[in-house]
Amino acid sequence: MLIELDRTSSVPLYRQIADQLRARITSGELVPGTRLPPERRLAAVLGVNRTTIVNAYRELAADGLIVGHVGRGTVVADPSRLYEPGTPASGIPWSQLFTSATEVMNDPLLHDTMLVSSRPDVITFATGTPAPELYPITTMRQLLDEALHQAGQSLLQYCPAEGYPPLREALAGWIARSGMRFGPDEILIVAGSQQGLYLLARALLESGDVVAIESPTYLGALQVFRAVGARLLPIPVDQYGMRVGLLEDVVARRRPKLIYTLPTFQNPTGTTMSRDRRDRLLALAARYQIPIIEDDPYGALRYAGEPIPPLAALDHHDVVVYLSTISKILFPGFRIGWIAAPRPVIERLAVLKQIVDLDTNALAQWAVWAFISRGLLDAHLERLRRHYPGRLERMLGALEQHAPGLLEWTRPAGGFYVWCRLTDGLRARDLLPEAARRGVAFAPGESFHPDDAGASTLRLNFTFPPVTAIEPGIARLAEAVQALRSTRLNGDGGRRARLAAPIV
Ligand SMILES: Cc1ncc(COP(=O)(O)O)c(C=O)c1O
Repeated sequence: MLIELDRTSSVPLYRQIADQLRARITSGELVPGTRLPPERRLAAVLGVNRTTIVNAYRELAADGLIVGHVGRGTVVADPSRLYEPGTPASGIPWSQLFTSATEVMNDPLLHDTMLVSSRPDVITFATGTPAPELYPITTMRQLLDEALHQAGQSLLQYCPAEGYPPLREALAGWIARSGMRFGPDEILIVAGSQQGLYLLARALLESGDVVAIESPTYLGALQVFRAVGARLLPIPVDQYGMRVGLLEDVVARRRPKLIYTLPTFQNPTGTTMSRDRRDRLLALAARYQIPIIEDDPYGALRYAGEPIPPLAALDHHDVVVYLSTISKILFPGFRIGWIAAPRPVIERLAVLKQIVDLDTNALAQWAVWAFISRGLLDAHLERLRRHYPGRLERMLGALEQHAPGLLEWTRPAGGFYVWCRLTDGLRARDLLPEAARRGVAFAPGESFHPDDAGASTLRLNFTFPPVTAIEPGIARLAEAVQALRSTRLNGDGGRRARLAAPIV
């Protein structure tokens, strides 16, 4: 059965397969009763994961176009039987009703990664989570107790959409220490910076607008910009951050409506934009009047070198919208982030936020306010900055011990991630099943790329896995790379790895 896949397309592979089969079924080329190939075989033929085929078949089944029979496999359904009296109604064809915005989450590679990551026997370097054992649980319990005791009634009410006023004030003071000058009314509290990004995209972008974005970049940002129909203008990242010169070359022609950047301890590469590039980026944005979204969840987690001021602190033209969160410096579960921006932006975003969720959890905002204003966040950050460098060194040491010649890697000065490249053109997606078999997970770099670059890259997180798991995890990873290399050297390319059992 000839199915053509365009691996450069933004349409997910499972959707391409489902669409082509759907066209053949509805045109009558595949008549009722025709057997479709078993999932595993079709996956092997097309060189995709079995989950991709499972998802494609699931979509066709939801549309009532195919049915699975025990013993007979999957066959094309007989439409005349669908509505026969006595046949159970097939229900609403949901997959035909969803908007294209919902497609962006459907990345089978990430799905596989998450499945592997969640296995209890797996050491995972795939997440973006702080060390859970460092969460200040006792202090938080006391603070929440105090909050409910003293102000329970008001904190269990709705609160202003812009955020709990004392927290807005505390955050304005907190970011002022890094040189950012925003008043409390220029701060909007959001339910995590992911929500902040979504609100910004909804407020500033129409479908078809161009967004200049680093390649690679934060996956959640890619999903947001794709969901609102933006066209992405990828600007590569090197060891000094976004290659601003390349943006300078194309800005007049492509006229981006927005620039999105992670200048400090970038996710996924861990790199930090140089001061010179920061100045040039700001000058460019001011000249062409393009807003910059500076996403800065990791800036407070510097382990080496001198701090470079955030773009928002260097901005003299009000072009920067600053976005940050407690998710990486405290914990993600409260879902508290913030946007600092000129007042008109905050006011418009607050209206949008009301449409989305009315306001942000007041009890959590109170706790974060108390944590900041009592100096507890400073102390907690001190603790993290003492602790994380040890984990980073362990990871780098283990890579040095187990992976020379197999991987190349960076040494970040802060943040959560070590960025790696497989040598000899091996692909991270082919490594995933080998790694899964050995009980280790990582984040494949291609998912972070807005273009089709990055096939040989991977992101390793060093903050989440237990300290003692880092070295064995890297040893397993190196073994997996070794295994993939020998399969390749045996002339089988990445193919054998792809034909192996799916990652579940
Ligand atoms: C760059 C970046 N922005 C935003 C987020 C999302 O943060 P939050 O938990 O505040 O939504 C993350 C989390 O990984 C991130 O790395």
